Amino acid sequence: MRAACTLRGMSGPFQLSDRALSLKPSSTVAVTSRALELRRQGVDVISMSVGEPDFDTPDHVKAAAMAAIESGKTKYTAVSGIPELREAISAKFARENGLSYAPDCVTVTSGGKQALFNAFMALLNPGDEVLIPAPYWVSYPEMVALAGAVPVAVPTTPESGFQLDPQALEARVTPRTRMIVLNSPGNPTGAVFTPEVLQAVAGVAQRHGLIIVTDEMYEHLVYDARQVSIGLYAPEHTLTINGASKAYAMTGWRIGYAGGPRGVIAAMNALQSQSTSNASSVSQYAALAALEGHEATARFIDMARGAYRERRDVIVAGLNALGLPTPTPQGAFYVMANTDRIHTDELEAARRILDDARVAVVPGTDFGAPGQVRLSYATDLNTIHEVLRRIGTLLT
Ligand SMILES: Cc1ncc(COP(=O)(O)O)c(C=O)c1O
Repeated sequence: MRAACTLRGMSGPFQLSDRALSLKPSSTVAVTSRALELRRQGVDVISMSVGEPDFDTPDHVKAAAMAAIESGKTKYTAVSGIPELREAISAKFARENGLSYAPDCVTVTSGGKQALFNAFMALLNPGDEVLIPAPYWVSYPEMVALAGAVPVAVPTTPESGFQLDPQALEARVTPRTRMIVLNSPGNPTGAVFTPEVLQAVAGVAQRHGLIIVTDEMYEHLVYDARQVSIGLYAPEHTLTINGASKAYAMTGWRIGYAGGPRGVIAAMNALQSQSTSNASSVSQYAALAALEGHEATARFIDMARGAYRERRDVIVAGLNALGLPTPTPQGAFYVMANTDRIHTDELEAARRILDDARVAVVPGTDFGAPGQVRLSYATDLNTIHEVLRRIGTLLT
């Protein structure tokens, strides 16, 4: 039998769309494929490239999902999510962030990623410019470009701990600028923007009539800094994105959410109604338990935060001691290491770290971070010590 999936090439009836062809092939793919290939050959490779908590989902959350299945809550839900969850999210925004989003100004999506995607699709027109502090999470420029808009990077530096300079941001505003995307605590830098910086960015948005999309997925993972929501300073300009993935170790459950102006949320719902319909019903009940089970959830977050902080201190000290300058991130679970001592080209440095030290890291190329690689420390301390030992052998 001849299977259609074995057909090679994209000519004939399967010519891909311009949109699909416009997607930039990720430079991390080369490293990931090489890591998989080495593993297949039986080489013991440690992955420091994962972007998800290594903890299990808390028990009270799992129990709520099982109860939802048992009681038949396995059907379509409202497009914007079950009302109980939207109420819990509205209460969470008020309690933890000081933000006022009524339940009908909240929508639930299949992961934070879909909330961002729906937002860009609902708000951006071709040619609109979107300011994105760099280094950035790879999906922002790609999603913005899929919406036909133009990502504009606003550089930040390791010397400032990747803190955003509001003047540098404002200097890039043009008549076509429509939106600012913020991510604090940030992936890949771990930077937490200070309240003063956020206040100044809010001023930029107000002066130029810009939308702020703020991705607060890592809000609970802050160590020496205070996480503040920019929605406090420019509520009439802000769409706040968050989700269950990083806070409650629920990456596979695919629950994200957004709070924003009613009309924008309605447009995001309309888009969702014609694509995925709704986030998984079972996952919505699980997320509800995470958001409502205040005590058990708070204990889990404290435990995770403490563990990440200890790991961060070990990995930052270790990499700096090896001569790979690494700023101390104040949040999330990533570090950015300067790899000049290994090779000035970060792709080549990542290749050597993989081939010779058997550690998979992500080159900064796609993050807008040349000369640097990203390591995730969402892994246990023993593994971190072993990673430092292995990278050390490259440098001696
Ligand atoms: C900054 C940032 N935003 C959003 C997401 C996506 O989260 P989700 O898994 O809920 O789609 C990630 C995941 O890596 C992320 O790092």
